[in-house]
Amino acid sequence: MSREAISRRRALGLLGLGAATVTAGATGWAAGWGGQPTIAGLPAGASGQPLAAPTELTSRAGVLAVQLTAAAGVRLVGRDTMAWGFNGTSPGPTLRVRPGDLLRVRLVNRLDQPTNLHTHGLHVSPQGNGDNPFVHVEPGASFDYEIRIPIDHPAGTFWYHPHHHGTAADQLFGGLAGALLVDGGPALAQRERVLLVTDTTLAGDGSVAPVDVMTRVLGREGALVLVNGQHQPVIAAAPGATERWRVINGCTSRVLALRLEGHRLTQAALDGRFLPTPTLRESVVLAPGNRADLLVRPTAPGAYSLVSDAYPRGSVVGGGTMNGGAVTSSRAVLAILNVAGPAMTSPSLPLRLPAPVVPPDPISRERRLTFAMGMNMGGMGAGGMMSFTIDGRTFDTTRDDQTIPFGATEEWTVTNTSPMVHPFHLHVWPVHVVGDSTGTPPLATQQDVVLLPAHGWARVRIAFSDYPGRSVYHCHVLDHEDAGMMATAHVQN
Ligand code: C2O
Ligand code: CU
Repeated sequence: MSREAISRRRALGLLGLGAATVTAGATGWAAGWGGQPTIAGLPAGASGQPLAAPTELTSRAGVLAVQLTAAAGVRLVGRDTMAWGFNGTSPGPTLRVRPGDLLRVRLVNRLDQPTNLHTHGLHVSPQGNGDNPFVHVEPGASFDYEIRIPIDHPAGTFWYHPHHHGTAADQLFGGLAGALLVDGGPALAQRERVLLVTDTTLAGDGSVAPVDVMTRVLGREGALVLVNGQHQPVIAAAPGATERWRVINGCTSRVLALRLEGHRLTQAALDGRFLPTPTLRESVVLAPGNRADLLVRPTAPGAYSLVSDAYPRGSVVGGGTMNGGAVTSSRAVLAILNVAGPAMTSPSLPLRLPAPVVPPDPISRERRLTFAMGMNMGGMGAGGMMSFTIDGRTFDTTRDDQTIPFGATEEWTVTNTSPMVHPFHLHVWPVHVVGDSTGTPPLATQQDVVLLPAHGWARVRIAFSDYPGRSVYHCHVLDHEDAGMMATAHVQN
């Protein structure tokens, strides 16, 4: 039976969705938590607690050597939970390195399942004990990663999370993530903060709620949206003092559409790469995996919500007149900016920032890739009823899907034939968007996650320079990646 031959009603039935719009649940668990708000007029469920920074581990004399132990049992939303973390916290420690440093991480697995680690967005070697997504670390075992940051690496905001195929979504949703900052670059603010946004759903006993096959098809979104593991923390700031917020979308599937009440946002960087100039924006959209460095200059005293607006991710069935199967990242208040105290003055922002340039011509090869979702009529088994493919195939760790000569500059047109958006992520080699089906003018910088429009495409230019080796590209809705929407890129000398 062809995909077209399946009636809309039947498709909805198969997906178990009915005609209702699918959105994340209410924040019932957090609402029961009795944090004492310190500011009048906070939204229900707000913690009222000041935003806490994760522990920072900073390199010395060119080396940062850390142990990261993945294990259950962290405090979230001010309570002891059975969620997962690194070194007892979720998010794990913030790792701070500089260009030219050596990052050594001993990953210790105290989970009950295999795991590994990916340094998301770093332009570093994927080979051996580098940023190698094919590593398995068994329960009880450890692995020593050694990641050499090149001397010309961009200064910016990156992050780390497990990348074990089949359980990547469970492990991120479970709490395993942390910020990774490459220091350097122009001074932009009097104060900087990491805002690592994650979402999860906790059961009443403090365990992370399991998700069913249908939820994996949509890409799970947690009922709780957390910033540094806190629910709606308060960011205290003085009027006029510029803050640099390093916002990381560490959610498994949720798209963030950031907006700050009473303010415009000035974006300085995307995915750890500066824009050519600080750019005013009403709203900044971050797909899962994306980061933005935002410069915020608080205005008048008051409390302002940092909001993520509702964002439509498309639907699981295309066309039709009903709203059935629509998938929307729900609106959420992430944090409260509390502006108080004497006014301060900030130096003016630089007009130019050190943005990476577009890889120059010539293009040695153009490729076409296709992300697709299909009805898999084969059965109701473990794989679910939906297939998630790249170029018609699901992930096979042994197969080379793209073989690329080292040093090539290529353009890839990545088409999404499905009615749902998918964030395209390529490890190691950053991409430069040169056009997409929506006609949105591309930001003049490099990025590592590109949100593919539903029934649309994006074209990216990539320089496969500096690092030969084998790595992956995939959908950063990690439920889709786990379902097979991943493939390999082998850059050969
Ligand atoms: Cu942030 Cu391959 O992932
Ligand atoms: Cu996807």
